[in-house]
Amino acid sequence: MAYETINVEVKDHVCLIKLNRPEALNALNQELLTELCAALEEADASDKVRCIVLTGSEKAFAAGADIKEMSSMSFTEVFSTNLFAFVNDRITAVRKPIIAAVSGYALGGGCELAMLCDFIIAADSAKFGQPEINLGVIAGIGGTQRLTRFVGKSKSMDMNLTGRFMTAEEAERAGLVSRVVPGKKLIEEAMGAAQKIAEKSLLTAMAVKETVNRSYELPLSEGMLFERRVFHSMFATEDQKEGMAAFLEKREAQFRDK
Ligand code: CAA
Repeated sequence: MAYETINVEVKDHVCLIKLNRPEALNALNQELLTELCAALEEADASDKVRCIVLTGSEKAFAAGADIKEMSSMSFTEVFSTNLFAFVNDRITAVRKPIIAAVSGYALGGGCELAMLCDFIIAADSAKFGQPEINLGVIAGIGGTQRLTRFVGKSKSMDMNLTGRFMTAEEAERAGLVSRVVPGKKLIEEAMGAAQKIAEKSLLTAMAVKETVNRSYELPLSEGMLFERRVFHSMFATEDQKEGMAAFLEKREAQFRDK
């Protein structure tokens, strides 16, 4: 499919999606968000894709929801259209792993979009923030909920109440980001991680994603039960037989997603 506000490229089973509204620092307007959800769903359904990388530009992953587009909206409009609900719902329904490769600003909806991915690799230039309070609103796609689960109440309150930005280094220390790399290496590092994931059994990778995500929804005893049952179910796959046989035979596993 052809898109106006994003670029999509598939290479070696990895789909690289690049947000492309440089004139607005990749502000997330309805067109971009709708195209992004469609591209993610297309990648999720494609036999050619085993992992997804989402990135922006060097200056901005995304500077938030589009303020120009939102500024004149009324309560009736945002409530009746359930503004932004589709972003959370459609992205969390994607079953293949998604890596956010963040350089520059990841603010408001941009930080929330990065947190909707499965993990975040940041360039040393990255800046994360939930500055919605400066606009007289609060975060609307997870800035008060997911960020709190990532970094704890104190830091989340700090970010959401003061609107200050976190550096990549602080974000890594706080557990928001999994790795920080020099800006020039960001795409290489993210594509390398995606490539590693693409070499695994896709069945197993999807089971990992589903099970880790359940940990956000369930009490520990239920989460442990869910994990154990999924672990048990893996023994019904050919990839479990192949993975363990390959280890014992001291060779590379040839997974077939079966
Ligand atoms: N929406 C719309 N346009 C935006 C934008 C946004 N979120 N962020 C930046 N832009 C536009 C600017 O209006 C500007 O356009 P013009 O040249 O046409 O004026 C262009 O991008 C470049 O931006 P700046 O000139 O401001 O660039 P800068 O380098 O001086 O500052 C910045 C960069 C600190 C990121 C600053 O642009 C900024 O503060 N942006 C807004 C950040 C923000 O408040 N995000 C939260 C949005 S609300 C939200 O996301 C709600 C939610 O949870 C869903």
